[in-house]
Amino acid sequence: MKKVCVITGGGSGMGLATAKSMGKEHLIIICGRSLKKLESAVQELVEEGIEAEAFACDVADTNSVEKLTCHAKGKGEIAAVIHAAGMSPHMGEAKQIMEVNALGTINVNNAFYKVMKEGSCIIDVSSMSAYLTPKVIMPVGLYKYSVKDPALFMKKIMNRVNLFPKKVRAGVSYGISKHFVIWFAKQDAARFGQKGVRVLSVSPGNFETPMGELEKEEADAYTKYCAIKRIGQVEEIASLFEYCVSPNAGYLTGVDILCDGGLVASGVNPLKKSR
Ligand SMILES: NC(=O)c1ccc[n+]([C@@H]2O[C@H](COP(=O)([O-])OP(=O)(O)OC[C@H]3O[C@@H](n4cnc5c(N)ncnc54)[C@H](OP(=O)(O)O)[C@@H]3O)[C@@H](O)[C@H]2O)c1
Repeated sequence: MKKVCVITGGGSGMGLATAKSMGKEHLIIICGRSLKKLESAVQELVEEGIEAEAFACDVADTNSVEKLTCHAKGKGEIAAVIHAAGMSPHMGEAKQIMEVNALGTINVNNAFYKVMKEGSCIIDVSSMSAYLTPKVIMPVGLYKYSVKDPALFMKKIMNRVNLFPKKVRAGVSYGISKHFVIWFAKQDAARFGQKGVRVLSVSPGNFETPMGELEKEEADAYTKYCAIKRIGQVEEIASLFEYCVSPNAGYLTGVDILCDGGLVASGVNPLKKSR
């Protein structure tokens, strides 16, 4: 019986590419909010000979994630969870972005913690924005509330985001939410480690996906600073995810892996208009 790989945001972009590579050896469960999108992705996977199914789930909704977890557990032993669901600044308002990216990660880790067994792994997908957003705006002191009281954490963090002018709030919310994802995965390593489960984050740079398409202008402006002067291809991040969840990476946990073609290494200052 194949082990299960759950991919949030698996209906498109990086999640779907990962379903294609992980699907060679796993039963794939992809989830997202739009069932139509998921069903067409499942059809694509099945045509490639992959055993896959769709499960509608909003990661920002705790009950919805609990249902996903229950469903996945019923399908077999869960080998990997790739939590790629996310929203960028072009996709919604600041509050929704924080709910999907930050609360979504809390929900996914907490729900799957209860059912994952020794040897399995969760990847929480962050973003290079966590590195490029100025450190001074990161409300790191508030992150601790997420562990015991996610609702209080959300209230406090949104109060902080709302101090910024409306026109930059979605971007600020994205940067903070993805910085939080890295923090949350790191602090969760010890908890998961007690069960022999690994948890880490991966921070992609600019990749060619439906989300990447919305950020294309920004991405093109950044490309000249990359060590590798092009946008990333989804297969390149999918194979990184695949390696990270594999037993070959059995000592890799509590860490973030930045996969950005060397953009952050260039020292680019995102606040400089002339970039
Ligand atoms: N592409 C890039 O350049 C880039 C750069 C840095 C980081 N990232 C991160 O990489 C991850 C994957 O993004 P992508 O580029 O592959 O974009 P994508 O194709 O837009 O994939 C994002 C997926 O997340 C799902 N999603 C959004 N909100 C959700 C929710 N509340 N509950 C469940 N699913 C939800 C979407 O499906 P529904 O709309 O059907 O829910 C969509 O399939 C994201 O976390 C993103 O922030 C991407």
